[in-house]
Amino acid sequence: MLACVYSRKDKFLLTRRPRPSVVEDGDAVVRITLASICTSDLHIMHGSVPRAVPGIVVGHEAVGVVEEVGSAVRGVRPGDRVAIGVETFCGECFFCRRGSVNNCTLPDGGWALGCRIDGLQAGYARIPHADTGLTRIPDGVDDKAALLTGDILATGMWAADIADIEAGSTVLVIGAGPTGCCAVACAALRSPRHIIVTDIDPARLRFVKKHFPGVTAVPPEELPATIAALCPHGGADSVIEAAGTPETFRAAWQYARPAATVAVIALYDEAQTLPLPDMYGKNLVFKTGGVDGNKCGEILSLIADGKLDVSPLITHTFPLSRADEAYRLFAEKADGVMKVALVPDDEIGAEEIAFSV
Ligand SMILES: NC(=O)c1ccc[n+]([C@@H]2O[C@H](COP(=O)([O-])OP(=O)(O)OC[C@H]3O[C@@H](n4cnc5c(N)ncnc54)[C@H](O)[C@@H]3O)[C@@H](O)[C@H]2O)c1
Ligand SMILES: [Zn+2]
Ligand SMILES: [Zn+2]
Repeated sequence: MLACVYSRKDKFLLTRRPRPSVVEDGDAVVRITLASICTSDLHIMHGSVPRAVPGIVVGHEAVGVVEEVGSAVRGVRPGDRVAIGVETFCGECFFCRRGSVNNCTLPDGGWALGCRIDGLQAGYARIPHADTGLTRIPDGVDDKAALLTGDILATGMWAADIADIEAGSTVLVIGAGPTGCCAVACAALRSPRHIIVTDIDPARLRFVKKHFPGVTAVPPEELPATIAALCPHGGADSVIEAAGTPETFRAAWQYARPAATVAVIALYDEAQTLPLPDMYGKNLVFKTGGVDGNKCGEILSLIADGKLDVSPLITHTFPLSRADEAYRLFAEKADGVMKVALVPDDEIGAEEIAFSV
């Protein structure tokens, strides 16, 4: 099968790999029907994910059809259409029982797919702990609608959870990339009074205005006046930082009201500083980390019920054999791209293709 592989820093390969099979009793093998590229794949390419293992197939967001299951798998059967969660986890350890599946203590627990074990940008993938990692896609939900369930929609749901959003409150989302937009969509489910989104990219603000009409989308220079007009207590009640720069890290606590919750979900290339003397008396609650992706069932139900729809985020589709072009477009944020979907195929017309973007 064709697969997209992390060879070493700044080198991905489109190459051939043997089709995986069931190894452990809890495994399933899934035929991938649609996969996507995530900003974290770019972080792997650029060597900023130290845990990523050279030689693995990348990709951690996909949907597909179960092809084969191990003898212990109860939740899915061959032929089932499934969304694949970014995390593989046992569901039973100390952390899993508390919902912190990102910290599952199994050797292949947490974010392993497409990072420490072979992932999803391929024709087929082996999914360990299939009963917790795979969720059946309801009839009537197509692949495109379900594609983002396992990673960035799970992240949006987790972000809305940890940001303590209450009905009637004000929410500020910093960064209107695909992850910020998923956070907006999930925050909206909690009926806040106002959601304010900021981004430096006018195209992304336009995207928000078009697809989330109830949301106030403004460039950073208009943020102080917007916060003053819409937030009665001197700042947002909940802030979700989904951009990942020193400026946005600072904005996240500056535009929070006293005693607000600041959820930092972006990843940073460098350490950030919390200037505690400046923040003294603001009594903020900071929450950070990697998504706990254990709400895929809830997400798919919301999609099936028409309450959650982020399919406009999938702006481009490429065959897997042209993943090099797809990665380039995604990295350059060209042509209004938000998310790129990859359809597995088998033709590259060369032994292998090496690329970096
Ligand atoms: N915590 C997790 O588990 C998790 C999961 C998924 C993604 N992420 C992270 O979330 C972040 C966002 O992901 P994405 O795919 O949406 O990335 P993205 O790069 O597409 O989006 C980031 C957005 O921030 C905007 N931005 C940059 N500087 C800004 C500024 N000064 N003010 C306002 N906006 C600014 C950019 O224009 C862009 O639209 C990334 O750091 C990603 O790694 C984290
Ligand atoms: Zn991701
Ligand atoms: Zn566990």
